[in-house]
Amino acid sequence: MPISPIWEIVRLASQIQSEGGDVLHLDIGAPPFRLSGLISAGLEDALRSGRTGYSPPAGIPEYLHAAAERTVARFPDGATRAGFDARSLQPRIVGSQGGTQALMAVISGVCDPGDNILLPEVAWPNYVEQALLAGVESRFYKLDEQMRPLLHSIESQIDARTRAFIINSPSNPSGAVCPPQLIRSLHELAVERQVWLIDDLAYCDFVYEGDYLTALECDWAAPENERCVLAVFSCSKSYSAPGLRLGYTVCPDPQLACDLAGLNDPLMGCLTTPLQLAMAQGLLYDDPAQRSEVLKERWLEALDLAARLGLSGPRPSGGMFKLIDISASGLRSTQFALRLLREEHVAVVPGAAFGMHPVGHGPRGLRFEVCREADRFVRVCFASDPQALAQGFLRLARLLDCLRAA
Ligand SMILES: Cc1ncc(COP(=O)(O)O)c(C=O)c1O
Repeated sequence: MPISPIWEIVRLASQIQSEGGDVLHLDIGAPPFRLSGLISAGLEDALRSGRTGYSPPAGIPEYLHAAAERTVARFPDGATRAGFDARSLQPRIVGSQGGTQALMAVISGVCDPGDNILLPEVAWPNYVEQALLAGVESRFYKLDEQMRPLLHSIESQIDARTRAFIINSPSNPSGAVCPPQLIRSLHELAVERQVWLIDDLAYCDFVYEGDYLTALECDWAAPENERCVLAVFSCSKSYSAPGLRLGYTVCPDPQLACDLAGLNDPLMGCLTTPLQLAMAQGLLYDDPAQRSEVLKERWLEALDLAARLGLSGPRPSGGMFKLIDISASGLRSTQFALRLLREEHVAVVPGAAFGMHPVGHGPRGLRFEVCREADRFVRVCFASDPQALAQGFLRLARLLDCLRAA
């Protein structure tokens, strides 16, 4: 598996920094907040009281209970309509080492080798890599100009070997949020064609405009025998804790949760017990809403800067990222990102990182083709420090102007 271009940019940026250069980081999507004191105190308590044993495959009850409480509190209307409280939801939940490992378990759990899965053509790169690891064929569905899924592109690619499609709203890398009607239609499609709908909700606590609906809520409104949504949550962004590696999946039924827990064992042994106890405190008592307000200000600032500097690209409505169209530079996204880093000391992620589509094997292993729709852009993280954001946008616009004029 090739190392993602995201990490290549991070490596080069650290090299420049180690040589004394100053780099503005608009690359990695790290939340700009300190970990809540509740979570660190929870960790200290767990260690002090010797809670360092193995955890059951699905996670310890305290963590699963807190995840259930949080999910019911986050989607109160859907939960009430479906008759879920934390107690009845808990058996449907399985813990994971971040959203990443949850997605690996989900993909391997619902697909067999030789099956196929439908992914957004511009998407977080791990989906493709995980499908490859699971021996599952990736097919790519088209997105509209605002980077939202095109229903007919999903519909037309479903065949007898299709087991699932993934949606990600708000999206990484575009920040696109699917309107409620689209979510309903996607859910109807999954029910009708009897495929799983994997709802990657890594950024669900960061929506800044418009109505927001998740496929999970649609699923809860459906009869039990039609439920088909596996909702994957990450604690990394919501709780500013990417290094604690925690997440969880809400399954349509308890049996599927047991099956996924069975996969946790070979995939990672088990979750760390003290970290689950710590994060349980976060899930129960640390509401991400305040952090979302801060990010909303940065989102507004990023939109304003982009408009003032004439930087185009799809409008994000949530998440932590904005795509900027650099096609006028005449460069591919990786070349542009490398020049921006070397000449202007600004680190962004080339769009190519989100459009690596496998096209078989060559003499040096797997071969990938970069999707054109992704290669037109670079991704900036607007959660970054506001001064870095303003300077970074200025320098990016300067390089783009310079290349455009050349
Ligand atoms: C779209 C998306 N899904 C899932 C994840 C998983 O995050 P983690 O494994 O840190 O929970 C990320 C992280 O960047 C992401 O961007």
